[in-house]
Amino acid sequence: MNRIEGKTVLITGASSGIGRACARVFASYGARLVLVARREDRLAELVSKLENEHGGQAKYFCLDVSKREEVQSWAEKLQQKTIEPDVLVNNAGLASGLSRLQEGDFSDWDRMIDTNIKGLLYVSRAILPGMVKRNTGHIVNIGSIAGHIVYPAGNVYCATKFAVRALNDGMNIDLYGTDIKVSSIDPGAVQTEFSRVRFKGDEKRAAKTYEGFKPLQPEDVADAVFYVVNTPKHVNIQDLIIMPTAQRNPYLLKRRGE
Ligand SMILES: NC(=O)c1ccc[n+]([C@@H]2O[C@H](COP(=O)([O-])OP(=O)(O)OC[C@H]3O[C@@H](n4cnc5c(N)ncnc54)[C@H](OP(=O)(O)O)[C@@H]3O)[C@@H](O)[C@H]2O)c1
Repeated sequence: MNRIEGKTVLITGASSGIGRACARVFASYGARLVLVARREDRLAELVSKLENEHGGQAKYFCLDVSKREEVQSWAEKLQQKTIEPDVLVNNAGLASGLSRLQEGDFSDWDRMIDTNIKGLLYVSRAILPGMVKRNTGHIVNIGSIAGHIVYPAGNVYCATKFAVRALNDGMNIDLYGTDIKVSSIDPGAVQTEFSRVRFKGDEKRAAKTYEGFKPLQPEDVADAVFYVVNTPKHVNIQDLIIMPTAQRNPYLLKRRGE
C-alpha cells in the first residue's frame, strides 16, 4: 500500500548517497520533494532527473544545515511558500578524519558536531512546530551503528551518532501524546561518498573501506526509510539497524580472503 503519494517529504543531504537514494524512492511513490544540501549543481541535476522521470514535484534549496541563521531564514521561506513537510529525513551528515582523540583535529571535530548534531537540531527545531500544530508528521533521523558501538579512532563521529540516538529518544519522549512519529535508521557500511569525505578526497583510502565484501548500497537504506515512513498511522518504528550481511558489528566485517 502506498501511503506516501502526495505527501511532502523534506530530505537533508539529498545531493549524494543515502539522501539522494531516498529522494529517488520517495519520488517514485509520488511524494512532493523538498531537497536540501550545499552543492547546487548536484541538486539541480537531481531535480531535473526526477522531473523527467516522475513529473514536476521536486524543489531544492541550497542550505548549510550547520548555519543557524541560514536555517532560520530558509524556514521562513518555506513558510512563505506554505511548504509544510509531512516527513523530514534528517540525513545530512559526515565523518571528517579518523584519528585518535589525542591527535584529533579541532576543525574536524567542529565540522562533525556542527553538522551531525547542531544541523539536525536546527532543522528539526524549524520544522517540528508546524508538525505539532498540525498534529501530524514523521521525523526520520539517519543515525549509524556508530551510535551503538564506538570503534577505534571513531571517537567524535561516534559521539555525534550517539547524540543522534539520544535526540531520537528525546524527540519521541517530547512528542508523547501527539500523532508525530520519530524513527532512527542506523546503517552499517554503505557505499557512498562518505569515506571520500572522511578521508578528504583520498580515493584509494576511501575505496579500501569497501574492499572484499558487498557493502550496503544507498538504495538499500532508502528502502528501509521508505518502509518505516510508509507504515500505518498507529505504527512507529523507533529504531532500525541495517547492516551488510558480511558485517555484524563495527568489528566483525568479513572480507574475502580474511
Ligand atoms: N555511508 C555510511 O557508511 C554511513 C553509515 C552510517 C550512517 N551514515 C550516515 O548517513 C548520512 C548520509 O551519508 P552518506 O553515506 O549518504 O554520505 P554522502 O554521500 O557523503 O552524503 C552526505 C550528504 O550530506 C550533505 N551534507 C553534508 N554536510 C552538510 C551541511 N553542512 N549542510 C547540508 N548538507 C550537508 C552532503 O551534501 P553537500 O556536500 O552537497 O552539502 C551530502 O548530500 C550521514 O548522516 C552519515 O553519517 C552513513
